[in-house]
Amino acid sequence: MTSALRIEGGNPLNGEVKVRGAKNLVPKAMVAALLGSTPSTLRNVPEIKDVQVVTDLVELHGVSVTNNTETGELTMDPSQVSLANHADIDAHAGDSRIPILLCGPLLHTIGEAFIPDLGGCRIGDRPINYHLRVLEEFGAKVEKLPTGISMKAPAGGLKGASIELEYPSVGATEQVLLAATRAEGKTELRGAAVEPEILDLIAILQKMGAIITVETDRQIIIEGVPSLKGYQHNAMPDRNESASWASAALATGGDIFVRGANQKDMTTFLNVYRKMGGGLDIQDDGIRFYHPGGELNPLFVETNVHPGFMTDWQQPLVVAMTQATGVSVVHETVYENRFGFTDALVRMGATVQLHRDCLGPTVCRFGHKNFQHSAIITGKTPLKGADIHVPDLRGGFSHVIAALSAEGTSNVTGVSVISRGYEHFVEKLNALGAQFEAMD
Ligand code: EPU
Repeated sequence: MTSALRIEGGNPLNGEVKVRGAKNLVPKAMVAALLGSTPSTLRNVPEIKDVQVVTDLVELHGVSVTNNTETGELTMDPSQVSLANHADIDAHAGDSRIPILLCGPLLHTIGEAFIPDLGGCRIGDRPINYHLRVLEEFGAKVEKLPTGISMKAPAGGLKGASIELEYPSVGATEQVLLAATRAEGKTELRGAAVEPEILDLIAILQKMGAIITVETDRQIIIEGVPSLKGYQHNAMPDRNESASWASAALATGGDIFVRGANQKDMTTFLNVYRKMGGGLDIQDDGIRFYHPGGELNPLFVETNVHPGFMTDWQQPLVVAMTQATGVSVVHETVYENRFGFTDALVRMGATVQLHRDCLGPTVCRFGHKNFQHSAIITGKTPLKGADIHVPDLRGGFSHVIAALSAEGTSNVTGVSVISRGYEHFVEKLNALGAQFEAMD
């Protein structure tokens, strides 16, 4: 994978890209396969690094995986699930947070699990306290070791529990689903996240034989069953990648048809895009996103859990906001530290001021904690090329589109991190007419 790009900016991105399965669903669907007694087949799987990391991790635990990267069909046979060596798990986990989600299925199948020190994008502390508490509520015995965290199932296996999340965490909700489906008895989860990726995971678990009811008001009831079978499923398309290309079209003054983008998963984003003045042509097989010419409108956006404006949409849209006429405000309420990427935008000529206060109606968890989690973006400011090192997945994508919309040359290093979640990123840029040279 290319690690550095020398980008000649100032040209609109025009053309078509195709999005496949969602990065925030596919790894979890792969983990769910461990709960089955027969093989599972997942379709529409993208060729991204996160899929490779999870493949390595489940293979270490005895799952046999075949992945046809061209057709996007991945099969997993969990019939030989076994214990893996702690050092091997650590070496293969890299910066992925997936090992924490393997715990429930492993506790059911082999009675123990191990989590190395976890990474993921550097967008805040990203603690795992909700996950550990949830697993303890199912009866798991959790022990902190110098190398990581070791877990054991109680005699008789995990038991259903009554759980309330203090925040609708996506990962903790998935943790509950993956642990509860085969736990003995009923699990009642309150304060659940209900992102479309979670509903797709629930659809998968239901295909496997799980009994899960999504009630109103963020309540999910899971009636445990003793065993599950394998599934066949088409992964939902990546709404975050779709929104990223949509923002790239606006920021560069371009016109991109995102084949596979699904309106129903993106209604909040589409409303915001429209209010900003972005052009939309919503079709059954994808969405055309374009800059219609003229001025873009400034906006107020507050990120939130679904059905709010998703945090992963924020960074690419901020780049487009630097090209809107007037003052935009973004209040980030999901992660405390997701504006680090704006330093580079400022060096490129953008006017972005960060604030510690909640600049929005929601008083979020970060309001009194000294985190710069609100941004004021004043446009329209021409951007100029700069040397940038990519900080994380979404911030990295944003830097690349900033470089593509800027006048002059930018040297962007560390771009391989973008391949964690964006399939064939460099090839897609090429197909859209981006002017760049791969530097390695
Ligand atoms: N949190 C805790 N304790 C926990 C877990 C979470 O305090 O034990 C906090 C987090 O620090 C954060 C908030 O709860 O402030 C929400 O975190 P959540 O658990 O919802 O996030 P996640 O499951 O770790 C997934 C996506 C993220 C996406 C978020 C929010 C995956 C692999 N990651 O993360 O995606 O931003 O949900 O929708 O599904 C990305 O794609 O770039 C990305 C970061």
